[in-house]
Amino acid sequence: MAIRNIVNKRDDILRKVCKPVEKFDEKLWTLLDDMAETLEKAQGAGLAAPQVGILRRAVIIDAGEGVCELINPEILEKSEETHKVIEGCLSCPGEWGYVIRPVKVKFKAQDRHGNWYEKVVSDLFAQAVCHETEHLDGQLFIDIVEEFVDVEE
Ligand code: CO
Repeated sequence: MAIRNIVNKRDDILRKVCKPVEKFDEKLWTLLDDMAETLEKAQGAGLAAPQVGILRRAVIIDAGEGVCELINPEILEKSEETHKVIEGCLSCPGEWGYVIRPVKVKFKAQDRHGNWYEKVVSDLFAQAVCHETEHLDGQLFIDIVEEFVDVEE
């Protein structure tokens, strides 16, 4: 495993739409393993492949219950109930702000072997699913932030 460089928001690569993952091979597994190590070191809740320079639809999330891998994720349902939560992004160091997110999200995704699964998640996990899938479409949380806040790091 290896730590990969996290792309900064100034890089145009974060504004591109990522292509689906088609091959569930060792190259993908190495990417996912590297992303997990990179995320752990950066102490974030999620990381999308474009953030390490790979324009493919792969995401990892660790909302406190271990790393979950989401390949070709699609959000199926968002709860009507929303809340205003503080959010940041490893590509936007030092920037934090309030965003409106659904409390619960139902999504489908493939695992590293290509098997589809569905999951209903809430709170931080749901927030991360929204944030990371937006990365796959070239969107950043700073686009939808309601109000930036000062947080001491
Ligand atoms: Co991010």
